[in-house]
Amino acid sequence: MAFALPLAASGLVVFSLYYLLQWLTLYRRRSHMKRENGCLPPKKLAQMDPFLGTDVVFQNLRAAKKFGFLNLLRSRHAANGLTFTTNTYFRTTINTCDPTLIQNVLSFQFQDFGMGPLRRNSASPLLGQGIFTTDDEIWAHQRALIRPSFVRAQVTDFSIFGHHVDQLIALIARRNYIVDLQQLFFRMVLDSNSEYMFGESVGLMSENASESATKFHHALDYAQQGTILRLRLGNLMFTHRDQKFRDSCRTVHAYADKFVGQALEYRRSQALLPPEKREKEDGVRQKYVFLNELAKDTEDPILLRDQIVNMLLAARDTTAGLLAFVFFILARRPDIWAKLREDVLDHYCEPLTYEAIMDMKYLRFVVHEALRLFPPIATNSRMANKDTVLPVGGGPDGKSPLFVKKNNVVTYSTFVMHRRKEFFGEDADEFRPERWENLRPGWEFLPFNGGPRICPGQKFALTESSYTIARLLHAFSSIENLDPTDWREQLTLSLTLNNGVQCRLTPAA
Ligand code: HEM
Repeated sequence: MAFALPLAASGLVVFSLYYLLQWLTLYRRRSHMKRENGCLPPKKLAQMDPFLGTDVVFQNLRAAKKFGFLNLLRSRHAANGLTFTTNTYFRTTINTCDPTLIQNVLSFQFQDFGMGPLRRNSASPLLGQGIFTTDDEIWAHQRALIRPSFVRAQVTDFSIFGHHVDQLIALIARRNYIVDLQQLFFRMVLDSNSEYMFGESVGLMSENASESATKFHHALDYAQQGTILRLRLGNLMFTHRDQKFRDSCRTVHAYADKFVGQALEYRRSQALLPPEKREKEDGVRQKYVFLNELAKDTEDPILLRDQIVNMLLAARDTTAGLLAFVFFILARRPDIWAKLREDVLDHYCEPLTYEAIMDMKYLRFVVHEALRLFPPIATNSRMANKDTVLPVGGGPDGKSPLFVKKNNVVTYSTFVMHRRKEFFGEDADEFRPERWENLRPGWEFLPFNGGPRICPGQKFALTESSYTIARLLHAFSSIENLDPTDWREQLTLSLTLNNGVQCRLTPAA
């Protein structure tokens, strides 16, 4: 006992010296790196609490509650420039809307940044080891797995979407033409994408959706909300103990597992056939099923399930959100509705073809303008996986090199960037599709991300949205806005409208 205390004390001294030495070595290495690269400290957001950042966190929460988080972000950038830092819970976040900085993070210095453990831990109960939550070799493997399926995807074949838009038009008529279009777009996109991905539609648009489909739909919503809550809790994620969330993830997985089983069965049945008979039934090529395509490259049922759930979630809210914003604007701008309808009718044919859609130039402008003002992924982030230097972001004007410490987070906002006057002109806040006549933006327009993790569903999303818009403009001669308020942001995994799209449509004669 007499020796134990001095022994413990000297152990503590050795331990402290070891850490002090490590800290000093790291400090010297970092100082050298900053000096050598001419790094300057970035602008800092004025904070009352410089370490925990409780004032910043509460300001964020208050703004989000009043549907104004994105506007708060804009005002912070207006006051502090393209790049500034905040400190919350002892972690530094670099907030940026500088296209050069974003390009470096997402493309040139791709290896230095990743999704990080926060996204992984919050989303893994629902998304498993899917493409959204993984980094490095696991992500590369996932990406390589889905690439051939996207190459083989027949997105120009409108039979994938046509039947679901027919159902949407019929449902609008059944509701006497007074609807919340956003709500219907969510259902339609899930119906159409599930058919494309699983081979069978969830069937939410039909009058008698099955019990398992409705259960799946609700479970997907609840599991997604839980995932966002976990993400927001950050380091306090361990306090999230919600049995309903776990049950919802299980329901989603069980629903997907049924189709994974079918895809693996299909794979086995194909393998038994001679090559010339594969994928043929009575001489007719089978319809494209994304899961069957994936199952050609792996027979791991968990991997297949994770992939398909990730894809379904990636595709649903983003595409439905884009469609909702287009019609939110159209309901308030009869001039744009009239011009767009003229463009659609000028090129319309029955059945509508991919080539006809491509000829609808004003339609393309409207879609681009909606993606600019209301990008479905309005903010995003990456975490530095090692100490690194970015070529911009430092100094009072944000033009000097910036030192980024390992585990610092870079949060970038396309919503703010897409509304900067220096990139899109003095009328950047206005919805003016005509600007796309001459606009050829680079990284300052980034609705689908860039670099190796660019959205692989871009063509699918643009085709599905354009087709749906063209069909609706053909089917209805006018739209009347039934909501006197302006848009209220609903920022979950993607950006949608809290107040939906309340409108009355008039069927075309
Ligand atoms: C308007 C619709 C869409 C928009 C605006 C959009 C946007 C994006 C963005 C910004 C990302 C990057 C996310 C990140 O790295 O954190 C992304 C990733 C992804 N998107 Fe989309 N997306 C849309 C539709 C779709 C569709 C329809 C699909 C599938 C059919 C899809 C599949 C994916 C996948 C699999 C990823 C992950 C890619 C990776 O990490 O390598 N997306 N999308």
